[in-house]
Amino acid sequence: MTPRLDPDGVDFLMREWDAMLEVYAPGNLARWHTVCRRLAAAGLAPGARVLDLGCGPGTLTRRLAEALPTAQVTGADGTAVLIDLARLGRPALPRLRFTQAWLHEVEGTFDVVVSSAMLHYVREDTIDSHLEQLRSLLSHHGRVFHVDTTYRAGDAGAAWSRWWATAAAYGIDAPTWPEQVAGRAVDPDRYARSAARHGFARGEVIPLGGENLLVTLDVT
Ligand SMILES: C[S@@+](CC[C@H](N)C(=O)[O-])C[C@H]1O[C@@H](n2cnc3c(N)ncnc32)[C@H](O)[C@@H]1O
Repeated sequence: MTPRLDPDGVDFLMREWDAMLEVYAPGNLARWHTVCRRLAAAGLAPGARVLDLGCGPGTLTRRLAEALPTAQVTGADGTAVLIDLARLGRPALPRLRFTQAWLHEVEGTFDVVVSSAMLHYVREDTIDSHLEQLRSLLSHHGRVFHVDTTYRAGDAGAAWSRWWATAAAYGIDAPTWPEQVAGRAVDPDRYARSAARHGFARGEVIPLGGENLLVTLDVT
């Protein structure tokens, strides 16, 4: 990590990330609060293992860990520089860890997988392999909560590029994303319907109002 990235620089980039996501995927934080509320209300068993897939620099992962005080929370993202940043985030929590991994590289078993503004990365032609990999990470009663938006509003591309230009001033270079995650095309209904082919008992798209959607998958 570059010496330019002191704690104040980390805090600044985290704040800018959250602000950027509100333009990139409007309603990002509110959707996350919905997920946190649902999980808190579900009364997870103490020590429940929760994975935030595509966690970016972990700003929402940290909020999730704070909302679920007994859960073991893992944030995973394939983009190495974002995980470097996530690990520098404050406060450090003993129940929260970050791992640099694309979905097919994630190790472990989880009771819950959540994601925010990640579903649109899934390419139509990789839905099946994505669901298969997701299922392989889940326990017998595993549940998945993806929140995302339709991307009909907002200015995703420009906001995203601006954040990376800001990060470049701190010595963080934008990576090249692998072909299999450069999607932006998945049809949430088709995704949820396909879950039945991969060991899920149920897949559902729940409109959250406006452009917001929640996709839930249940193993049992
Ligand atoms: C738009 S960002 C959202 C980050 C974070 N969830 C948030 O809401 O602030 C999407 C992130 O998902 C990650 N990602 C996309 N597909 C992934 C996959 N298959 N496995 C792991 N990470 C993935 C990307 O690297 C990127 O950091």
